[in-house]
Amino acid sequence: MLILNGKDVAKEVRATLVPRVASFKEKNGRAPHLSVVIVGEDSASQVYVKNKKLACEAVGMTSTIHALPVQVSQQELNEKIRKLNSDPLVDGILVQFPLPKHLCAEEVLKLISESKDADGLTYMSMGHLLAGNPLVNPCTPAGVMTILRHYGLSVEGLKVVVVGRSNIVGKPMALMLNAANATVTICHSKTVNLSSYTRAADLVVVAAGKARMLGKEDFKQGAIIIDVGIHRDGPNGKLCGDVRFEELQGWAKAATPVPGGVGPMTIATLLQNTCWLAEQKAGLHKT
Ligand code: GUN
Repeated sequence: MLILNGKDVAKEVRATLVPRVASFKEKNGRAPHLSVVIVGEDSASQVYVKNKKLACEAVGMTSTIHALPVQVSQQELNEKIRKLNSDPLVDGILVQFPLPKHLCAEEVLKLISESKDADGLTYMSMGHLLAGNPLVNPCTPAGVMTILRHYGLSVEGLKVVVVGRSNIVGKPMALMLNAANATVTICHSKTVNLSSYTRAADLVVVAAGKARMLGKEDFKQGAIIIDVGIHRDGPNGKLCGDVRFEELQGWAKAATPVPGGVGPMTIATLLQNTCWLAEQKAGLHKT
C-alpha cells in the first residue's frame, strides 16, 4: 500500500513558497501578510492559530493574531473584520472556527472580502467554486487534491464517495473532485447502509468526524482512502483518524495516515492561498 505522506507534500509546497515570498518582498517592500482572528480561549483553536502563525513565518510571510475575548459582540467582531478588509497591509484574513455560540459564522463568512479570503470559505469563494470558476479553494479539500496530484493519482472517471457534507470539507471536496472529472457521491450521517456506497468506490474521502469509524470491510480492495479525521483516542490520547488505518495494509492501493496525512496540507494550502491573494492584489497575476 502506498502511504500518502502529507508531511512530505506540505514540505514541498512550503519550499515552493519561499522563493515566491522572497520575490513578492523584493517587488513590494514587504512580505505577504495573514491576519488571523480568534475568539475565546478554546485550547485546540489556540494551538491551530499559533501553528498557522509559525508556518507563515517559516516561509518568510508575516502574520498577526487578533485574539478577541469570548464575550465579544457580533458588532465588535464585524467591526474587526471590516477594519482588516480595508487595511492595505493585510492580504489574507482567517477567522478561526468554531466561534462561541452567540456569534454567527454565516455573518462572518459574508463579511470577509473575497479578495482577502485566505480560507476560501466565504460565500463568494464558495459561489465561485460551485460555478466552476474558483478563486481561492478551501484549504483542507484543496490540500487533498494536492496530495493526489503529487502522487500521480488521477481521479478522472473514478467512482468517488465523500463521507461528510460540512461546508469546510465535504461539500467543497465533492465540488473539487467533480471538477476533476470524478463521479462523486456525497454520503452523510443520515445515509442508509453507508458501506454499500463506500465499498463500491475507487476513492473514498472520509470527513465524518467520528474516530476510527470505517475499516477494511468498508472499502473495496485496491481503493484509495483519504482520511480527513483527527481525534484523540484511548487512554493515552493518541491521535487517530476516521479510518482504522492499520487494517488497510495489503488491502488498499493508497491511504493517508493520521497524523501526517491530510493535516499538514491544510496549513500549507493556507500559506499558498495567502501568497496568491497578496500577488493578486499586487497585480502579479495580470498578463
Ligand atoms: N476550524 C477547523 N478547521 C478550520 C478551517 O479550515 N478554517 C477555519 N477558519 N477554522 C477551522
